[in-house]
Amino acid sequence: MVRVGVVGLGMMGLTHIDAYKRRDDVRIVAIADKDPKRLSGEVRATGNVDGQAQQGVEALDCKRYEDAGDLINDADVDMVDICLPTHMHLRFGQMSLEAGKHTMLEKPLARTSEDADKLVAIADAAAGKAFVGMCMRFWPGWSWLKEAIDNDTYGPVRSASFRRVAQHPGGPFYENGELSGGALLDLHIHDTDFVQFCFGIPKAVTSAGYSKVTSAIDHVVTRYHNDDNPAGGPVVMAEGSWCFSKGFGFTMSYCVNFENATAVFDLAQQKPLTLHKDGKSEQVELDSLMGYDLEIAYFLDCITNDRAPKTVTMRDAANTIKICEAEGKSVETGERVAVQV
Ligand SMILES: NC(=O)c1ccc[n+]([C@@H]2O[C@H](COP(=O)([O-])OP(=O)(O)OC[C@H]3O[C@@H](n4cnc5c(N)ncnc54)[C@H](O)[C@@H]3O)[C@@H](O)[C@H]2O)c1
Repeated sequence: MVRVGVVGLGMMGLTHIDAYKRRDDVRIVAIADKDPKRLSGEVRATGNVDGQAQQGVEALDCKRYEDAGDLINDADVDMVDICLPTHMHLRFGQMSLEAGKHTMLEKPLARTSEDADKLVAIADAAAGKAFVGMCMRFWPGWSWLKEAIDNDTYGPVRSASFRRVAQHPGGPFYENGELSGGALLDLHIHDTDFVQFCFGIPKAVTSAGYSKVTSAIDHVVTRYHNDDNPAGGPVVMAEGSWCFSKGFGFTMSYCVNFENATAVFDLAQQKPLTLHKDGKSEQVELDSLMGYDLEIAYFLDCITNDRAPKTVTMRDAANTIKICEAEGKSVETGERVAVQV
């Protein structure tokens, strides 16, 4: 039984708590939030994906802390799950890892690649295991895609496009580009990470975009240059935004064209994944759980069986931030920017 403490009871903290409640190999022993109304459950955050952050914390029988450090230093906590705003990940991630706790950090690993590199080094020297919630690597329909690519099931990928667009989520953290990194670092990072997962670290990126709600980049379109080899690699691109009008909500999708099939994922559909092949279109059955449940199951398994997380490493998560930073530089300069990791 892993005893977990959850720090930060916003949309993601509640989403993770829902996932823990569905399992019998983990017990929530403590929660922390500096806002007493969030800590008591009087005020509840809501999610942007249907089924997310459904339950509150009112009925939880556990310790409650206003100070995240007190939860981290609680001897009854084996694993700390940090769901704080991004700019706090370094401070509390470091505190947790140095206290010897198994540590899960929400994405992005940190606000900057410099901070992320620090966390990678701290995790390398830590007694506990470290994990980053790059949830798309576990998301039903997306892990299917990764397997299809790795197994060469439908031949090589010729082109892939990913799209994740939304209205702005609102709130002081997301409105502040210095703290959140805008849609580029907060939302689009999921697709950047998935591109890295499937196709490796791109040699370079070419991006265009703009700021709207924050001082950072809130809409971005990127071409990932994985295709600079003589044999011709896939043409890969992604669009991310939280500049859409209120009422639009949120959607995520991809269209991947293999040599012998085309796969289309659209979260807005009741059955999101369709495979078009040999003149037939088939809806692929997927796990009903969300990537959040599956990533948490994976990390708990790593802890229980003393295995280092491999599906996503701290280094992968830091590299994803470096790719996003190259995308940001490309938006600013209008130039193709080499990715240096
Ligand atoms: N994986 C995903 O799909 C996904 C989705 C949304 C957000 N996120 C990430 O999760 C993180 C949190 O996002 P969110 O939407 O839950 O944010 P949020 O603003 O809704 O919640 C953050 C919570 O942290 C609390 N808090 C702030 N400072 C604190 C402190 N010093 N000590 C204790 N509590 C403190 C706040 O009171 C708030 O309740 C961000 O890094 C975000 O990028 C990931």
